[in-house]
Amino acid sequence: MNTQSDRIIIFDTTLRDGEQSPGATLNVDEKLLIARGLARLGVDIIEAGFPYASPGDFQAVQKIAEVVGTEDGPTICGLARATQADIKRAGEALKPAAKGRIHTFIATSDIHLKYKLKKSREEVLAIAPEMVAYAKTFTNDVEFSPEDAGRSDPEFLYEVLERAIAAGATTVNIPDTVGYLTPSEFGGLIRGIKENVPNIDQAIISVHGHNDLGLAVANFLEAVKNGARQLECTINGIGERAGNAALEELVMALYVRRQYFNPFLGRPPESEAPLTNIDTQQIYKTSRLVSNLTGMTVQPNKAIVGANAFAHESGIHQDGILKNKLTYEIMDAESIGLTNNQIILGKHSGRHAFGNRLRELGYELSDTELNKAFLSFKDVADKKKEITDWDLEAIVNDETQQP
Ligand code: KIV
Ligand code: ZN
Repeated sequence: MNTQSDRIIIFDTTLRDGEQSPGATLNVDEKLLIARGLARLGVDIIEAGFPYASPGDFQAVQKIAEVVGTEDGPTICGLARATQADIKRAGEALKPAAKGRIHTFIATSDIHLKYKLKKSREEVLAIAPEMVAYAKTFTNDVEFSPEDAGRSDPEFLYEVLERAIAAGATTVNIPDTVGYLTPSEFGGLIRGIKENVPNIDQAIISVHGHNDLGLAVANFLEAVKNGARQLECTINGIGERAGNAALEELVMALYVRRQYFNPFLGRPPESEAPLTNIDTQQIYKTSRLVSNLTGMTVQPNKAIVGANAFAHESGIHQDGILKNKLTYEIMDAESIGLTNNQIILGKHSGRHAFGNRLRELGYELSDTELNKAFLSFKDVADKKKEITDWDLEAIVNDETQQP
C-alpha cells in the first residue's frame, strides 16, 4: 500500500461527530440527504454514524451504505468502540457498501484509563490489536484510533499503534479529543509517531481534532507538514462541544496555499494540481444543506462560508475591490460555489429564479413544498423591496415545518 500519497484524503465525520453537537440530531432521511451532498462534494470517506448507538443510527449507516456507497462513490465508515458487540453491529450495517470501513477506538491517556475505562495500560495493549483483528473479519479497511492521543504518554501510544498496525489497521487516526494541543505540539506528535512506530509505513496517518481552543485547523495543517495524509473534519466545523476541524477551512487552505504545501507532500513547489479530491464549488451549497438540516446556524464572520466571508463594508476596501479584487480577496467567491449573481429577488421574480436560488442555498424541495414556499414568497415580496437570503430561509423553514 502506498501510505505516502501526495494527496490528502478527506474523511468527513459530519454525520457522526458532527451529529454529536448538542441539538443537531438528524433522522435517517436527513442523514441520507447530507450523505448525497457529501458525495457530490467529493469527500473520500463518509463516517455515516455509530451503528451500535441506536437503531436509527444503524439504519442510517445501512441506508447510506446502500444508496451512496456505490463502487464509484465514497467509502462508508461506521464507528465502533473496541468491543465485539460494537464492531459486529458496524460490520452488519456496512454490508451493502461497495467499500466499507470500520473505525474502532479505545482511549490511551492515563486520565481516560483511570477514570473512564478503569483499565490498565496492559489491558489496552491487548484489547487494541484483538479488536482490530476482529474488525478485519468484516472488512479489510480498518481504522484504529487511540482516543485522547493528544494527552497520552507518547511511548505508550507508539506501542499501541505498532500493535494495531501489526493486527491489520490500515489507517491509524490520532485524535486530539479535547482540543488541547498547539500546532507545533501536534506537528511534533505526528513526527514522533513517524519516527518511533517501526511499522508506520504500513498505515496511513490520519488526524482528528476538536476546536476547544480554536486551533483544530491550524493543528491539522502542521500535521500535514509532518506526514498526516487523512484529515477528519466536518462541514461548518460542527461537532462535540466547540466542534471539529472545519472541512471548508482545511480544503480552502490547502487549495489557496497549495504551493506552500506542495513540498511537504513531495510535489514540485509550482504544481497547480489540487491537494484534495474536493469539488470546491460544492462547498457553499453543502454548508447550507448541513446548516438547514441540523438547525445549526453559521456565524456571519465564519471563514469561507459565513455571510460576511466575501462582503466588503468599508469605503477603502470597496474602492480597492472595485479597482482590483486581489487587493482584499485571497480567493474568489465563485471558487466555493457562490454565483455572485446579480439577480435580485423581488415581487417580479418568477418561480424559476426562486427555485434556483433555493437550490443554491442548499434546499432540495418537493414540487408541492416549492409551490407553497413560492406563494409565501410573493406575499413577503409585496411588502418588501428586496428579499434577502435570510427572508428566503425563514419562508422555507416556515413552510416545510408546517404539518
Ligand atoms: O474525538 C475523538 O477522540 C473521537 C474518536 C472517536 C476518534 O471522536
Ligand atoms: Zn471527536
